[in-house]
Amino acid sequence: MELTERQRSELEYHQQHARKKQQLLTEPFSWDVLDRPCRRWWNAYWSMYAHLVRLEMAGKTVLVVGCGYGKDALRLAKLGATVHAFDLSPDLLSIARALAKREGLRVFFDEMPAESLTYDDNCFDVGVLSASVRELILRGWYAESCSCNSFWRTADAYEEKRCEAGGGPAAV
Ligand SMILES: C[S@@+](CC[C@H](N)C(=O)[O-])C[C@H]1O[C@@H](n2cnc3c(N)ncnc32)[C@H](O)[C@@H]1O
Repeated sequence: MELTERQRSELEYHQQHARKKQQLLTEPFSWDVLDRPCRRWWNAYWSMYAHLVRLEMAGKTVLVVGCGYGKDALRLAKLGATVHAFDLSPDLLSIARALAKREGLRVFFDEMPAESLTYDDNCFDVGVLSASVRELILRGWYAESCSCNSFWRTADAYEEKRCEAGGGPAAV
């Protein structure tokens, strides 16, 4: 697939980042946010995990957007979710795949741009974006994605269903 100029510049930046992340393959993986996730309640990332743990991920199908080296994909798989995760960067994905293999977790990783996802509509219970939203909004990606890909349609449909049902889990 031919990438846009913006996707290419994003990819270039994160491929460089991937070189620094290679060291993760020699270190123990951190599961800290899964163990008593409320203990840093002031931190948005830890709060997100407190929320995800409350939602009970076991048996849910989750999409991790811009998964990078896979830390959320692995953590959600550890919580029992069926996890699909995608990213633009093949090098970050190769770290993610190696970590998942080392930790004995099954995650479906895909290399693809968020602007043209190939997942079916309405196939995820929860979507997780971490450390991506700021960039996505700043770069206009969110607006583009809202109008054109299946993930956002899924998230919208899910949110609608959730409201009709009077609350409950939301896409994060
Ligand atoms: C700041 S990193 C966050 C990675 C991960 N969510 C985390 O918390 O470690 C943003 C990630 O989004 C990916 N990304 C950026 N633009 C993308 C796009 N258009 N499609 C898919 N992935 C993208 C990058 O390759 C990078 O891995």
